Amino acid sequence: MIQQTRHPIGITDVTLRDGHQSLMATRLRMEHILPVLEKMDKVGFHSLEVWGGATFDSCMRFLNEDPWERLRIIRKHCPNTKLQMLLRGQNVVGYRNYADDVVDAFVEKGSEYGMDIWRIFDALNDTRNMRRSFLAVKKAGKHAQGTISYTTSPVHTIEKFTALARELADLGSDSICIKDMAGQIFPRDVFDLVKAIKDALPDMPVQIHSHSFSGMAPVAYYAAAEAGADVVDCSFSALGWGTSLPPTESIIGAFKGTPFDTGIDIAGLQELTDYFDDMVIEYKDIIQAKSLRIDPRILMHQIPGGMFSNMLSQLKEMGASDRLDEVLKEVPRVREDLGYPPLVTPTSQIVGTQATMNIIMGGRYKNIIKEVVNYLKGMYGRPPGEVNPEVLELALKGEKPIDCRPADMIEPELEKNRAEAEAKGARPGDMDDLIAYTLFPQVAPDFFKKREQQSKEAEHAQVVAAAVGAYQNALHKSAARRAANGTAAAVAASPWATAGRMQNMGMA
Ligand code: CO
Repeated sequence: MIQQTRHPIGITDVTLRDGHQSLMATRLRMEHILPVLEKMDKVGFHSLEVWGGATFDSCMRFLNEDPWERLRIIRKHCPNTKLQMLLRGQNVVGYRNYADDVVDAFVEKGSEYGMDIWRIFDALNDTRNMRRSFLAVKKAGKHAQGTISYTTSPVHTIEKFTALARELADLGSDSICIKDMAGQIFPRDVFDLVKAIKDALPDMPVQIHSHSFSGMAPVAYYAAAEAGADVVDCSFSALGWGTSLPPTESIIGAFKGTPFDTGIDIAGLQELTDYFDDMVIEYKDIIQAKSLRIDPRILMHQIPGGMFSNMLSQLKEMGASDRLDEVLKEVPRVREDLGYPPLVTPTSQIVGTQATMNIIMGGRYKNIIKEVVNYLKGMYGRPPGEVNPEVLELALKGEKPIDCRPADMIEPELEKNRAEAEAKGARPGDMDDLIAYTLFPQVAPDFFKKREQQSKEAEHAQVVAAAVGAYQNALHKSAARRAANGTAAAVAASPWATAGRMQNMGMA
């Protein structure tokens, strides 16, 4: 091994947010979160990602849980570890741009309830869409983490990404995250990128978030560490790997005995590993075996796994499955026409659907979808590269794209919504409910109604009883249940086997 100075890597465990968002459609319920919080708090993680992303929506839409209450409970049971979340910039935790007053109020409330580290990102890396979030997080006195949404294209170079890192630093970033949501970053490239950012901003902590789709993420983490990265994101093995992130146990094991040793005791994690192993059995109907696997297609045609399966089902619905190859060749052409947007939600759907249209509808851009028109108008932000002028003309028919920040076109929303929200069940004068309603006006009223039906105390008592029961059950029956259930989790490579072997070989 190359001689290096000791540089312990921090681990952000994302099991309670991205882990279940990636593998089980964000359906993890509070009754399964509660029993492990105090254990997780003691591990010595750099931070725990537990909120944001799709969890806010999912809590109300599917779980009949108050998302704010979830944060407060987690904070109460994790007094020692920093809590982290994903904030979609001006999209907050929703799917469109909201007015600045919504961003401000959301960050203020989240901070008040205990959120420490706010990872702020924009799908197009348009810092105008992140600026307000930075101001709000700094005002709350919390940690603002600026995000580079990683993708590959002729306009996404190390130089451009480093310039973006500088811009994020100027906005007040306390750290920078390289977010490889498609799991496509090559170890060599992450090494060069981390190094370039560290050269430009020597004191800036750098964190890596790479999904495991392609199988390269663990190697990329090691390469990033060698280039000076400070923190990597992982998810407990039961909710790791596949479309999720590299397993927490494996990555801690991989750094053991190296200059990047996390200092976390692997043996101490066993109880948590067992707990999550058993817990996912409860959700086995939601977890698709395919999402636990590696999908190397991203290495071949740069199309993320989720986008690939969307396009497949779109073609199937149209009775045109045999045209997949043509669509696959059309995707990079549409992406180029649109100025190389990163292929993440929502741009992955926009590019995928337009490419399918171009093949199915008998000619390129014969039929331009509404989302492409809005994208070209600038309603999502600034395209990363030059847009094809012919496509622009076809889509906008002479209309000019906006040249301001998209959210500048939105009037303040909260107070305007108050009467309507309260008529639909929001608690009078309550800011939490008003924000929830403004973010998800279709979803929140139903949630308010159900909440009213259950008295809060009864609900809490029920959750605690169920949680205690589930935990005890898990402890007593874990071995028997694992043996009896032939789940994917049980047959997948066990990080414990690896850790055990390493110890036997005197490596750990
Ligand atoms: Co992610």
